[in-house]
Amino acid sequence: MNDIKEKLQTIKEKNLYREMRYLSKPQDKYTVIDKRQVLLMSSNNYLGLANNEEVKKSAIDGINEFGLGSGGSRLTTGSYDLHKKLEEKIAKFKNCEAALIFNTGYMANVGVISSICDENYYIFSDELNHASIIDGCKLSKGKTIVYKHNDMKDLYNKISTINPAKGIIVTDSVFSMDGDIANIHDIVKIAKEFNLLTVVDDAHATGVVDKNGRGSSEYFNCKVDITIGTLSKAVASEGGFVCADEYIIDYLKNKARSFISSTALSPGIINGAIKSFELIESTDRVKKLNNNIKYINKKLNEIGIEADENGDSPIIPIFIGDEDLAMDISKSLLEKGIYIPAIRYPTVPLNKSILRMTIMSTHNKEDLDLVINELKQILIENKVIK
Ligand SMILES: Cc1ncc(COP(=O)(O)O)c(C=O)c1O
Repeated sequence: MNDIKEKLQTIKEKNLYREMRYLSKPQDKYTVIDKRQVLLMSSNNYLGLANNEEVKKSAIDGINEFGLGSGGSRLTTGSYDLHKKLEEKIAKFKNCEAALIFNTGYMANVGVISSICDENYYIFSDELNHASIIDGCKLSKGKTIVYKHNDMKDLYNKISTINPAKGIIVTDSVFSMDGDIANIHDIVKIAKEFNLLTVVDDAHATGVVDKNGRGSSEYFNCKVDITIGTLSKAVASEGGFVCADEYIIDYLKNKARSFISSTALSPGIINGAIKSFELIESTDRVKKLNNNIKYINKKLNEIGIEADENGDSPIIPIFIGDEDLAMDISKSLLEKGIYIPAIRYPTVPLNKSILRMTIMSTHNKEDLDLVINELKQILIENKVIK
């Protein structure tokens, strides 16, 4: 016997039941979800590269040359020349000594934190960090201390009270739900004072923040010890990566279990990602994305939704609160052909539901104006704004 059915029923009764929506067209700014054409305002394909012809050709070339499956873990038979080439490309792009590819960003976070933080380590972790950071903390033997979201005073107080001999400060750079950007500059300063390692998750920053899309270190003009990222968002492929000094990467190859014990990514995925990085560096996609972010924030302010007109984050949450209301508004938008999902507990706290809107470089002003007009009407009808 088990109680899984009862647990599932409880999830449904609390209106927290999640269902998948299925796409039947590529992930461009317009796609087809559940048989309906929609303007996509929720994709992490920030630079529109997922369905790019050059990226797709590169992926296919990778498969044609090396086959589909990699056939082994990285330390056995799964490391191809292509993996090395991509790691060198990422290291150069991120301006660090070395890089290591993991199969997902999730696995990179879990692998880094759990392999580095033994029982002698303290882990200072932002309260809104991504689930993969939280799970990495749980898997590690270190002692986790959660500090208030992006609150440097609280972080400083917590570290100085303990004054640990060994430890890390770990944070998302662009927070995956709230969309704000961590104060990496001050985090690095505090880490230096207490001789702690900085671990920064650039999942939503790579290819996005900084004028060249190089991520949070370039954006803040400071050096963090370990940068984690994903290839699944702006890079529009799959996989995760870690950038750090050579000795740290060497250690991870030997100790990170989520790196060691999993089959390497397909050569197609890797070759596609290499092309994506080339396009990020050689085209104006990052600039277009940035202009769109500024534009929509300005328009949101005009209709009474608080937004940072100088903001650089592609994730723009619209706070709703009530779970049912957030779901209803998302549904009304879908009926108008706009897809902005409602995000509910446990991804965000109870009664703090949001509409999570994301911006792509491929949106144009007409798309964004349309979103603002429909959003305004629906939010007024639902008494969220006046
Ligand atoms: C901040 C953050 N870190 C890590 C991940 C995990 O990356 P991946 O999808 O490659 O597992 C995500 C999202 O998926 C994320 O939003």
